[in-house]
This record gives sequence, C-alpha cells and structure tokens, in this order.
Amino acid sequence: MKDNYQYKVSASGRVNLIGEHVDYCGGKVFPAALSLKNDVYIRPNGTDKINLSWTTLNDKITLDIHRLDEYKNVKYANYIAGSLWAWQKAGNRVIGADMLFECRVPFGSGLSSSAAIEVSTIAAMATITNTPLDKPVIALAAQRAEREYAGVNCGIMDQYASACGVKGHAMLLDCSTLFCEQVPVDLGEYSLVIINCNKPHNLVESKYNERRAETEEALKILQTKLPIKNLAEVTIEQFDEYGRFLNGKVFDRAKHVVFECDRVNKASAAMKSGDIKTLGKLLNESHNSLRDLYEVTGRELDTLQKAALSSPYCIGSRMTGAGFGGCTVSLVKTANKSDFETSVVDAYLKEIGYAPSVYEAEIDDGITVEKL
Ligand code: GLA
Repeated sequence: MKDNYQYKVSASGRVNLIGEHVDYCGGKVFPAALSLKNDVYIRPNGTDKINLSWTTLNDKITLDIHRLDEYKNVKYANYIAGSLWAWQKAGNRVIGADMLFECRVPFGSGLSSSAAIEVSTIAAMATITNTPLDKPVIALAAQRAEREYAGVNCGIMDQYASACGVKGHAMLLDCSTLFCEQVPVDLGEYSLVIINCNKPHNLVESKYNERRAETEEALKILQTKLPIKNLAEVTIEQFDEYGRFLNGKVFDRAKHVVFECDRVNKASAAMKSGDIKTLGKLLNESHNSLRDLYEVTGRELDTLQKAALSSPYCIGSRMTGAGFGGCTVSLVKTANKSDFETSVVDAYLKEIGYAPSVYEAEIDDGITVEKL
C-alpha cells in the first residue's frame, strides 16, 4: 500500500549527548539525529482535505486545510494538524493530500517522537508543494507547533536535531543564534548505547514548564546584576559572585544551567580531540547535576545510570532528553556491548521490577526525501 504514494519523507528522533535543559536558556546543546525515524508517505489528492492514516493504527482522520486550528484535542492527529497549522501560519502552502504515517521512534521514550512527527509532516507538505526544504526554517515551524498547539514550552533542540542531523555527526548547536557546527562522532573503541527505563510518563509537560519558569526567574534576578540576555551567558566566575542573590531551588536550577553549559564546551572539545574518557566523565557529571540540582531524573533513570556505571565496560552514562522517564545514553566498550547490556537489564529488573529496553540505533541524517 505504501507504493501508491508519491514520496516517502522521514525525520529523525534524537539523542542528546550533553547540554540538557539549557536550550531554552540560550545555551549550546550537542544532540545527534537517529536512525529511529517517523516516515510519512504522501501524495496530493486535489481536494481541500488531508486524509491521515497510520500503519500501526486503525484510525483514519480527515483534516480540513481551512480549519487547521480545530484539532488540538484530536488524539494522534493533533501534532500533525499543529505542524500544518504552524507551516500555513508562516505563509506556506498547505494543500489537500493523503498521508500515511509510520512512527519508528518509540513513543514516550524521550527520543523526541513528537519532533520527528512534526518535522516530517512539514517536510512532506513542503515536498509536494515544491517548496525548497530549508531545514532550520522547518525546525522553527515545528517548534511553534509544539509550543502553541500542543502547549509544551519547549526549546529548539529536538526539532533542530530531527531536521538538520547529519549521518555520523553530532550537532553543536548554539540555541541563542542557531549557529550549528557538525562534529564527527568518533568514539574510538567505544559506542553509544541507548536504553529506555520504560517508566510510564506522566506530568512531564507541567514539570517541564515549571523548570522553565524557574530558570526565567533566575535570569530576571541576575539581569539586575549583569548585562545578560540569556542565563547561559553567565560564567562560572560570575555565578560564584552573583549566585547568592538566588534562593533555594532557583539557585539550584541556575547552577545546573551554568555548569552544564561549561560541560558542553568541554565535552565537544574532548570529542574533537578523541579524549573519550573525559567525555564519559562529563556525561556522569551532567547526570548528577540533573539528579541533584535540576531534579528531573527520578528513581528509574538513576537506577539505570548506576547499573550502567557498575559495568566495567562503561565509562560514562547519563539521562537524555527532558527526563522524568525516558532514556539514558552510555559510552560502552564496543567489544563488550552485549555483556554490558545483559548486566544492566538484569540489575534494573531486579531493582525496579520490570525490564528496560535497549535500542539499536545509528546516528543518521535528519530529514530525508525519497521519490517513490
Ligand atoms: C525536551 C525539550 C527540549 C529540551 C529538552 C531538555 O526534549 O523538547 O527543547 O529542553 O527537553 O534538554
């Protein structure tokens, strides 16, 4: 049935190597696009309707291209409608089409299935309307869908990684300027292993928005002392001097942001010079800070990280993404990957009572278009 479509347009899920909860503070992040993707099969249908179907669901939903703002509460279709809505709002053509979706990014995994759906939806529409694929522009429209349609006040990292990823590279992305440097991921005798703790997600959006508000409060206070636009501009030395003006949790959240930004610089330098041990150490420090200062890990992710680090083959491990569930990313001796995975799965199962999932994924291109 897929052969009856005109194009297959895909966009990636992502893993963030380091730089967590700093994108919305104007910091640098270091994500990579994955071979786990959302695929959209698309053909124009000459009407004013967009017919949605899924390879994994029996639902069929039709959207009216003149009323794209009306589907906010329609399960499965809301992210797609929101993306087309944001694309149309930005002045682009949206035409009637049949779209078949196949999401290969596990839902609720913290690997950004929603960004993959948003970005591939827009890229598919751009393809059939002969609109040039400007990937950063597509990422920005997808982010708008997430913020204004789905109500999650997210940063730009996920949509940017999903759109602009390059095979074999991680993106060192400055979220205040969108300047992006593609850095080859060369890990020597190590590999990345992504494991989902499989904790059922709940309240992620509200806790996420709460953290964002706390960093905004920190910024407001520090702006009375320093000429800064973003929290990520605060150096460790400045924080040592002015951090005392922040209280309690707001101090902790800001401290995480300032030190995490420093770790991103060190981690990208370590990757470029092939110093994988240092990279591993920085991953561990990032996790500890997300656990103790930012408080977004939880028992399941902490157990998974500890289980990873108790393996002799692992030199660094951290949660990746928003947290409160989802995945860890670990640096593991390639030759001993399967021993590592067995020991982590066993230790986690023993402690938590259900098994985690280990994903096989490569670092891949973001948006891809295939003519069928
Ligand atoms: C989610 C958001 C991103 C980013 C991460 C945390 O994935 O969508 O914008 O804030 O959390 O780093």
